[in-house]
Amino acid sequence: MAPRSEGGMTAGDAQHRPVEPTSFATLDALNAALAAEPPLVPGGTHSVPGEGPVGAAIAFVGEQPGDEEDRQGRPFVGPAGRLLDRAMAEAGISRDRVYVTNAVKQFKFIQRGKRRIHQTPTAGEVSRARWWLHQELDLVHPRVVVALGATAGLALAGRKVAVTRERGPLLFDNRRGYLTVHPSYLLRLPDEPARQAAYAAFLTDLNAIREMAA
Ligand code: URA
Repeated sequence: MAPRSEGGMTAGDAQHRPVEPTSFATLDALNAALAAEPPLVPGGTHSVPGEGPVGAAIAFVGEQPGDEEDRQGRPFVGPAGRLLDRAMAEAGISRDRVYVTNAVKQFKFIQRGKRRIHQTPTAGEVSRARWWLHQELDLVHPRVVVALGATAGLALAGRKVAVTRERGPLLFDNRRGYLTVHPSYLLRLPDEPARQAAYAAFLTDLNAIREMAA
């Protein structure tokens, strides 16, 4: 398998496994190799693998595991994950039937007292993790890959994406994709009317995604 283009990334970003990419036969084999990798981000201790069936029609890609995901070792089980679950259920998408993963597989944080404060991964960290994400997606082989937010968009497209301007169906290399907001964006909105409007727009996206994947 040829290494994927690093379009939009700097040359120094592409150092991770660029020469002879290995194809894994199974997700278990990929996840075992990932678990043996040194930390991918500052603070990163262990990788949180993707979750869901091989052959899932839809794969959702987030940014990176958060505090709860890191503790439980599962993607999207914290506040953003609960919101995603609720929206998927309302849009008629069963979480059990989709694949859920992250652009970067480790929680990047800084410790402040007892709290672990989320840090956004740099473009270089996203780029180094990109090889793993594409191997993973090659194995799952979804009909539609959904980028939840700008970091996932960067990982999938290999370039910076503008979520507001490019939101909607989008081709990620040769993958049929869809770009939308990250559910944590909805949680951060300051007032209820804005949250409701943004949630309704997110549901519209999920309905369109379900139809694309049908
Ligand atoms: N945010 C993400 O992007 N991924 C998770 O798994 C949880 C929160």
